Amino acid sequence: MKVKVCVGSNCTFLGSMSILDQIDDLKDIISDDPDNYRDEDLEVEAIKCLGFCKGTDEKVAPVVVIDGEPMYNATSQIVMEKIINKIRK
Ligand code: FES
Repeated sequence: MKVKVCVGSNCTFLGSMSILDQIDDLKDIISDDPDNYRDEDLEVEAIKCLGFCKGTDEKVAPVVVIDGEPMYNATSQIVMEKIINKIRK
């Protein structure tokens, strides 16, 4: 699974670093619990501005993209739920 977390200034200002930290913690939980989670590689990338905040007046930050699907106004809780749902056995 590929997860891209935007760490551009808009997204960082609205909390993307804490989402990144929580994904890191989640990685440890997943690798410690092979009975409940598929042994799927969780690839996490921090990217400086994914471009979604440009050319719009809508509030989109923070942005996280999971397997190509962008999530706007992402929160740690929603991102964690999405990742867990995809890799839970
Ligand atoms: S700063 Fe995150 S999409 Fe631009």
